[in-house]
Amino acid sequence: MARLIGLDVGTSGTKALMIDETGAVIATSSRPHTLQIPQPAWAEQNPEEWLQAAIECLEELGADKADGIGLTGQMHGSVFLDENGDSIRPALLWCDQRTADQCKAIEEAVGPEELRRITGNPALTGFQLPKILWLRDNEPENFARLHRVLLPKDYIRMKLTGEEAADVSDASGVGCLDLATRDWSPEVLAAVNVDTALLPRVVESGDIAGLYKGVPVAGGGGDQAAAAVGTGAVSPGIVSVSLGTSGVVFEACADAPKTQHDAIHSFCHATGGWHRMGVMLSCGGSVRWARDILYGENAGWEAMNEEAAAVPPGCDGLTFLPHLTGERCPYVDPEARGAFAGLASYHTRGHMARSVIEGVCFGLAESLDLLTGGRRPTVVRVTGGGVSSPLWIQILADVLECPCEMLETDEGPAFGAAILGGVAAGVWPSAQPGSEAVVRVKSTVRPSGQSYRKEVDRHRSLYPSLLRWRDEIS
Ligand code: XUL
Repeated sequence: MARLIGLDVGTSGTKALMIDETGAVIATSSRPHTLQIPQPAWAEQNPEEWLQAAIECLEELGADKADGIGLTGQMHGSVFLDENGDSIRPALLWCDQRTADQCKAIEEAVGPEELRRITGNPALTGFQLPKILWLRDNEPENFARLHRVLLPKDYIRMKLTGEEAADVSDASGVGCLDLATRDWSPEVLAAVNVDTALLPRVVESGDIAGLYKGVPVAGGGGDQAAAAVGTGAVSPGIVSVSLGTSGVVFEACADAPKTQHDAIHSFCHATGGWHRMGVMLSCGGSVRWARDILYGENAGWEAMNEEAAAVPPGCDGLTFLPHLTGERCPYVDPEARGAFAGLASYHTRGHMARSVIEGVCFGLAESLDLLTGGRRPTVVRVTGGGVSSPLWIQILADVLECPCEMLETDEGPAFGAAILGGVAAGVWPSAQPGSEAVVRVKSTVRPSGQSYRKEVDRHRSLYPSLLRWRDEIS
């Protein structure tokens, strides 16, 4: 029986797991990461810390005895390397919002329609290309030393295997990948005067791109595409919702999708096809923040869940907007800020806790409407840390008005990456049969009949009505 490893270079930590061909998890290992916020709305990490974590996790799992390894990780980040392959400065992360000026410059240089036609997306502050322009504009001495820019998981690949490559799904989040050719767009790069040689070669997710101690390493996938392989969102019709730090609604597509809304990303999928997704930047991030400030950083989740469950749906008029770190979906707005609206003296800590959970579900419902054009899927597959809260899942099923399926193995992107490792090892011909062979539904939470339509509408009207106020404080 083949042994397959998935390695996820996440934001809060590195996680690795080993599975067999049936999808059974044999072992896991993880290490935490530290996050630096040098200025409000900036976010950086030290790539050396990721590397140390990856090496320790792989050693703990005995990776040299595995048959295949798949890499995944936080998307969009930029690891700036000199000609020796050493990192020049801390990496800028997916949630870093410093590049608004560079996004404007990309839109102007390429032209808004052309940019969307080629890459499927607008220029977004989190993406990697504007970060390269930011380095050129703000740290010319570092830019002069720049030899290569890699995505987080691809930096780990380079250090572990010596190979420089990006898989199509992660490369889609750089901001200059041609969705049709599944390779860098010479037009976009020329328009912004960035040398293609700064970027690694692009490979498909199941291709072998490096050997670690003789074990084939797959191209792998961005964390969302890899997570989708691990939930079975590999063919059109299955919608997945991920309740991680970010909250993501995701659907696979048979053809390169036409951009229909700037808040919905169109990317290449790890299956050889394409996918669309909406990314709420602070989903589990908002819930964790509420737990920390209302109950204390070291508190368990029980008190928060218990008090929130005792509050009536709709929170007696209290509404929460989850834009704690700007927003990408349902609104593209790096300057967006969160809010509690409708506070009254009768509101308790439990009301605030519940309104945060409801608020992220309302935002996900709006995102799902954008993704599907208002069509309610017959079922959604739900994954991520939020799955451990029955209250959260029931509210989600009621707000989305569709059944939520949970999976037997909910190990996140690392699980999907291990499946991609299996493709590279020749266990499966591609990600779709691999995913279908190992993903199994464990339980389903159905809508209870509680309607949240009024609350969703109220929530929808809140962001636009706060725009003037946002401009005052930004
Ligand atoms: C996807 C995205 C996040 C990050 C962090 O577009 O920004 O999912 O990859 O995990």
